[in-house]
Amino acid sequence: PPEDTLAVIKPDTQHKEEILEEIQAQGFTISQLKDTILSREMAEEFYKEHREKPFFSQLVDYMCRGPCTMLVLTKENAVQEWRAAMGPTDPDQARLTAPESLRARFAKDVLENAVHGSSNTEHADQKIKFIFGDIGEIIPDTAS
Ligand code: CMP
Repeated sequence: PPEDTLAVIKPDTQHKEEILEEIQAQGFTISQLKDTILSREMAEEFYKEHREKPFFSQLVDYMCRGPCTMLVLTKENAVQEWRAAMGPTDPDQARLTAPESLRARFAKDVLENAVHGSSNTEHADQKIKFIFGDIGEIIPDTAS
């Protein structure tokens, strides 16, 4: 069955259009898309799993620096497929092991690595709700 993952095109990427083209070319359906500037609080919450890492404050600075493109990508096995499309976190490693991947092509360094993707389906559901909200039940408009 199709699965959803949360993808982020991070601030300052000069390659948003190419990344969107690659997403289409790889057969992901873009179920939701919005450009958002994260507040510090939102970025800290979004990356709370990394709170203890030495690079956490740099990561938050980076993610708040400009608009992020937030996407819900839908495909069979979307979480794993999107991680494969991104390649390893560090572009130096990506260029060695996955030269066609988005990070090999577009990341600047291990911090400014162009794209993000949820690491598992549980995180995906949680981050999609956090970014896009819980749409919930759609109530038909009977007033008119
Ligand atoms: P992402 O996959 O979004 O998840 C956590 C982010 O932290 C990662 O991409 C990078 O932007 C950043 N990051 C991970 N490891 C390092 C590191 N060693 N130094 C600096 N930033 C890092």
